[in-house]
Amino acid sequence: MSAPERPLLNALQAFVSGPGRSARWHTPGHKGSAPDGAEFLAWAYDVTEVGSLSPSGHGLDPIARSESLMASAFGADRTWYSVQGATLPVTAAMLAAFPLGAEIAVDRNAHRSVLAGLVLGGFRPRWIYPQLVGGAVALPAMPAGQAAAGQVLKGTAGLVLTHPTYDGLTASLAPWVDAAHAANVPVVVDEAHGAHFAGRAGYPRSALDYGADLVVHGVHKTEAALTQTGLLHRQGNRVGNAAVDWWWSMLATSSPSYLLLAALDRLQAERHQPGRTAEWEALSETMRELWGRWQTSGISVLQPWWESRGGVADPAKLTILGDGRAMAESLASGGTVEKVDAVSVTLILSPGQDTALLDDAIRPLARWSGFRPAIRPWPQLAAELPPREAVVRAARWVPWRDAPGRVAATALIPYPPGVPLAIPGEVLTPEVLDWVDEWQSGGAGWVQGVDGSEEGGLWVVDA
Ligand SMILES: Cc1ncc(COP(=O)(O)O)c(C=O)c1O
Repeated sequence: MSAPERPLLNALQAFVSGPGRSARWHTPGHKGSAPDGAEFLAWAYDVTEVGSLSPSGHGLDPIARSESLMASAFGADRTWYSVQGATLPVTAAMLAAFPLGAEIAVDRNAHRSVLAGLVLGGFRPRWIYPQLVGGAVALPAMPAGQAAAGQVLKGTAGLVLTHPTYDGLTASLAPWVDAAHAANVPVVVDEAHGAHFAGRAGYPRSALDYGADLVVHGVHKTEAALTQTGLLHRQGNRVGNAAVDWWWSMLATSSPSYLLLAALDRLQAERHQPGRTAEWEALSETMRELWGRWQTSGISVLQPWWESRGGVADPAKLTILGDGRAMAESLASGGTVEKVDAVSVTLILSPGQDTALLDDAIRPLARWSGFRPAIRPWPQLAAELPPREAVVRAARWVPWRDAPGRVAATALIPYPPGVPLAIPGEVLTPEVLDWVDEWQSGGAGWVQGVDGSEEGGLWVVDA
């Protein structure tokens, strides 16, 4: 009898022990090594809410107690633990913060979890379009000042921002948060890639420090936490706990994994101690020194370029501009990268990673790098229907060539970064379809929402 097939396990084993695995330049932040205090990673600990582990409703059970310690580590009024990544906190935050069906201002550089919030809440987005480097790398959405931000927000029920970008770029959130609060509307910040910012020198300021009302952390992306762990923090009095609790109960699993919750508890204990902070700060110093060296040898690094324009970049992200695919291939013998597109390759770093090995891998990239970043506007599409209306209408499949002029029924999303190029309800144009092609041929591979069959096509609203 042949052995039963285990396709996923086999692929996992091959990936973990295969060639090019010396370095993990991608999520999760633990990089494959158990951090201190990880003794809970055993099958015996795989339980869910039962007996003494069940929530009590009085804030005295172990989850509530741990969440409250995490909130105090971040200076938040309340923190919720997610075992559904940053996706659940983003979606629940939007539903809790804004009246259903309201018009809200939304950073167009938004992860697909924001689209889920738009569809579930029936919200009407007023898009804020940031600029793009080379058509692929988003820059932060920056208003000219608080008055300009106030104009953008005028008449909306609030704002959703992405901070930092996937590549770790940030701009001050003060104009946005101050303008929203002057209008007494809440700000939700998707800080999925910035869980490691708060309280650490050499990193961008956290959205919590700017006073954002709800802030999401995808902790697994950069911190030593298990994949699928996330946080939602609340502060101030514009959004109540009850609204978040309600949407959390609608969207979250009723059987949370205690392995994942214990990983969050371990992280909160770590955040109450200074040791890891010193390691993060040392990483920032090392990376800033390496940026300088690489730039001198003709390698174009996005993060210092952004800082030279007055922004602040996360030194734990490393984006080299150039021929993304060629650079990823060159790096493949040393490690696996996080993101590849036509104009760049992006690595995610954590304290303790071998920066000498990184330096050896990056230096040869001078061959494919070294050009000046070209800034382009974000391609804007006319919205025929709000996202929710577009997804509830009947849809039909059309071949790719017939798509221009039709209304998208699904989103077109390269992953990573998971930011939709077109969203349901928008009228497709030749320009956006070319953009999708650029992503597919430039390294991202398949763009979600595109039928990869030979004929190729997509779903549009049946007019
Ligand atoms: C900006 C942003 N927000 C939210 C998410 C969702 O995070 P998760 O995959 O942990 O659900 C991602 C994931 O890539 C992201 O990049």
